[in-house]
Amino acid sequence: MLQSLTVPLEHYQEAADAIRQRTTRQPTVGLILGSGLGTLVEEIANPDVIPYTEIPHWPRSTVQGHAGRLVIGELEGKTVLAMQGRSHFYEGYPMAVVTLPVRVMRLLGIDTLIVTNAAGGLNPNFRAGDIMVIEDHINLVAMAGNGPLLGPNLGVFGPRFSINTHIYNPRLRKLAHKVAQERGITLREGVYVALAGPAFETPAEVRMLRSWGGDSVGMSTAHEVLVAYHAGMRILGFSSITNLSLDSTEAHEEVSHEEVLRLGREIVPRLAQVLRGVLAELPPFDPAEVENQPEA
Ligand code: HPA
Repeated sequence: MLQSLTVPLEHYQEAADAIRQRTTRQPTVGLILGSGLGTLVEEIANPDVIPYTEIPHWPRSTVQGHAGRLVIGELEGKTVLAMQGRSHFYEGYPMAVVTLPVRVMRLLGIDTLIVTNAAGGLNPNFRAGDIMVIEDHINLVAMAGNGPLLGPNLGVFGPRFSINTHIYNPRLRKLAHKVAQERGITLREGVYVALAGPAFETPAEVRMLRSWGGDSVGMSTAHEVLVAYHAGMRILGFSSITNLSLDSTEAHEEVSHEEVLRLGREIVPRLAQVLRGVLAELPPFDPAEVENQPEA
């Protein structure tokens, strides 16, 4: 597939304009919901719903379990724009296209991004069904040359060289733990490793990623978050641990997409409670908490 690495500024603007024409709401919080977790959006009251196919330049999700629509409405007193389903690099889209929705959110005035993903558990203390707050990430895809910020920098979003020391907002992580504790829900915390996929890891790769400090592993999120943080958004991320990564060729279990979806659904009610609690108590956005500012 030969496609341009970059997306021109007009494409982001045209997508944002198309969304503005379909809603009178002014969302401030973006939600990206991963495999099996799309049902969370059913909790959004009286939503404006826009199928991805009706937004110019918007990548379509081709994966089972990803619905492919934007849902804009009120949740816990906040106006949210939720992506029910996301596209992935492994579907064949360039990273700039996969992450186009995040920049469109920014143009719409969204300052807070909450991301969820389905992930394998690398940390041997984790169990399938756990929820992990993302403390930091290792973006192996970007490190290997497929980052979402390659090519000419669009300074209206952020700087050429973005700073990534505090991507996952400490205040929001703390808030997630507080609301979970109040509801009797256990949350883990750790480092998310992003791979290109779509092949699952081999046992040798699992051992390597664990020894490098990874706690969960998946095929999304890190590039979305890089683009969001570049554009000055604050971020909170969660991994749903849908399976434990197998670290031995002697293992007899198997990881299947169906099982990932099933456990994703099992986790939804708990994750929904945490997300609602975070939204209800979300502190006002403070630009000083984000290290990157637009160049222009
Ligand atoms: N590896 C990568 N991605 C995943 C996994 C996994 O084990 N489970 C769900 N998404």
